[in-house]
Amino acid sequence: MAVPADVERRAAELRDAINHHNHLYHSLDAPAVSDAEFDQLFRELKDLEADHPQLVTPDSPTQRVGGAPLEGFEQVAHEVPMLSLDNAFSTDDVEDFERRARQRLDSGDVIEYTCEPKIDGVAVSLLYEDGVLTRAATRGDGSTGENITMNVRTIESVPLRLLGSGYPSRLEVRGEVYFPLDAFHAMNAALEAAGEKTFANPRNTAAGTLRQLDPRLTAKRKLTMFCYSVGLVEGGTLPGRHSEVLDALGEWGLRTNPVVEVVEGAAGCDGYYNKLLDLRPRLNYEIDGLVIKVDDFARQQRLGFLTRTPRWAIARKFPAEQATTRLDDVEFQVGRTGAITPVARLAPVQVAGVTIRNATLHNMDEIARLGLRIGDDVVIQRAGDVIPKVVRVARSAGDQGQPVALPEACPDCGSELMKAEDEVIVRCSGGLVCGAQRKEAIRHFASRLALDIEGVGEKLVEQLVEAGLVETAADLFALTMEELCSLERMAEKSAGNILANLESSKATTLPRFIFALGISEVGESTARNLAQYFGDLAPLRDADAEALQQVPDVGPIVAEKIETFFRQANNAATIDALLAHGVAWEAVGQAVPHDPLADQTWVLTGTLAAMSRDEAKAKLQQLGAKVSGSVSRKTTVVVAGDSAGSKLMKAQGLGLEIKDEAALLELFESHGL
Ligand code: IVH
Repeated sequence: MAVPADVERRAAELRDAINHHNHLYHSLDAPAVSDAEFDQLFRELKDLEADHPQLVTPDSPTQRVGGAPLEGFEQVAHEVPMLSLDNAFSTDDVEDFERRARQRLDSGDVIEYTCEPKIDGVAVSLLYEDGVLTRAATRGDGSTGENITMNVRTIESVPLRLLGSGYPSRLEVRGEVYFPLDAFHAMNAALEAAGEKTFANPRNTAAGTLRQLDPRLTAKRKLTMFCYSVGLVEGGTLPGRHSEVLDALGEWGLRTNPVVEVVEGAAGCDGYYNKLLDLRPRLNYEIDGLVIKVDDFARQQRLGFLTRTPRWAIARKFPAEQATTRLDDVEFQVGRTGAITPVARLAPVQVAGVTIRNATLHNMDEIARLGLRIGDDVVIQRAGDVIPKVVRVARSAGDQGQPVALPEACPDCGSELMKAEDEVIVRCSGGLVCGAQRKEAIRHFASRLALDIEGVGEKLVEQLVEAGLVETAADLFALTMEELCSLERMAEKSAGNILANLESSKATTLPRFIFALGISEVGESTARNLAQYFGDLAPLRDADAEALQQVPDVGPIVAEKIETFFRQANNAATIDALLAHGVAWEAVGQAVPHDPLADQTWVLTGTLAAMSRDEAKAKLQQLGAKVSGSVSRKTTVVVAGDSAGSKLMKAQGLGLEIKDEAALLELFESHGL
């Protein structure tokens, strides 16, 4: 049955009115109608839609909270990577940043910056297609995030449809989702009154809320979002300055931060810093500093990027917040690689709104350096996400205090402790005999940036290892329903979910798999470089230390750790078992499949103008070349930048091929680098 034209018109009117008032209320904090009037409009639209279900469109304001809970989150590849920022901790650091920018821009002109609060929340990307919100994703590792559209739709300050006109047909907007402090404290007060467990801090709660599988739960927590940049832009253009883009986003109904200011030069940034520090206690969100961005996009483009951070923006951090409390005890934890780490147990104390009970002490040398005794009053500090640490002793307990002693044996398995000559770290010699190491290795394997096996967290791993059901990560995939259900407090439904999550985690990516192995010194970014360089696991397993050092970021120490890891029989067996269980990934498109510079050795000398030598080295390696620091008869090509000296002379003497920077750039360009 067709919808009468007047009903259709009224529904459209109501939607526009509701979107408009929503924007005034949630984004601009300037409501024009009372809650009762708003509710009436909303009810009228709901009634019309109930009578004429054909009217319901996904972008209708009545459709924020969607249907059934999700099974899990899909992966989303970011078409434009979501970068992070380099940090500045002082006026000097910002001045250095400006000096570097000036040099690159080759200009003495004043640089205008947009200064913005750096919100301590969760970075989220919103994709609008023809003005309709079609996808929302987390940042993830910057190249791949998770599809959290269902949850983000419940955030009332995020428009389901953009207002006005003139927006590009595909527009990706980025910003920070956070839990407003008043709503967070109100929620905790209500939980406390009901005798329930409260949440530790707004940032982690916001992150957890965005990863709820049931959007109805997300809708109950009053998250909001500030938009601060754009990613993908297609089918349209944006203004030429960052500050103007922020204005445009605001006009399209997106919530932008009113505290933003355009300032001149590093001195202007300093003024903003002081203002923001003053304002901080009155803001309804947590910030850990400010973000300084070159306002002019043409300049941003000329400044370009380093691997993971832009050269046109920097985060200036506030000093870490400190507090004084008593050191009650020092306990020793065993990490994934057997490292024994002392942990301070503290009398609970509030720092920056969070209760701190533990702090890291790194190693015994640190304890000696601090002159710590149990019973001392200590100053601790917390900066953003960083684990709190003990900075110094505020008042020593003197003879009343108890010295801190390293245990005689591993606190977990009782194995002997050992210390390499050139290391400060003491390690348990138990290897996989040691339950703590096994647990940590398995927990790491399942963690979010590794195989991301939902439900397999610290507690479950602890139970599984204690019960003897799992010894290595590979054993996870052999778990049965009966085994899982035999664990304490494990219902059949959760067990079923865990088995399903294990199954779906088998389809992974090579970088995640390499990271998941938990090779000492191989973090997420090194794992990605290894995957890119070798293209598959087999050549990586076979690589010797020399081959490994051709990978960007891999020096002799890391290369040796990787080689040793793959040579160990128990690791090889675990990897074989994982593969046999069906853990697999799609082939990694190596940047250049046929390695056009294979078997060639290149030497870079002098200063390059367009990129650092490290960047050039990484790109040459992507093309398959070896890059060496010294010129010899075996050198294929020498690239001579500005003021190249003795290496260039030697190359000339040997009659080697010499290229200038322009030729190098041309080579990169011709291979899409
Ligand atoms: S701009 C390349 N602006 O800080 C530009 N980021 O370390 C990167 N953040 O992941 C982002 N407030 O989660 C930008 N006003 C702001 C921000 C902001 C918070 C977070 C964001 C990002 C991290 C960068």
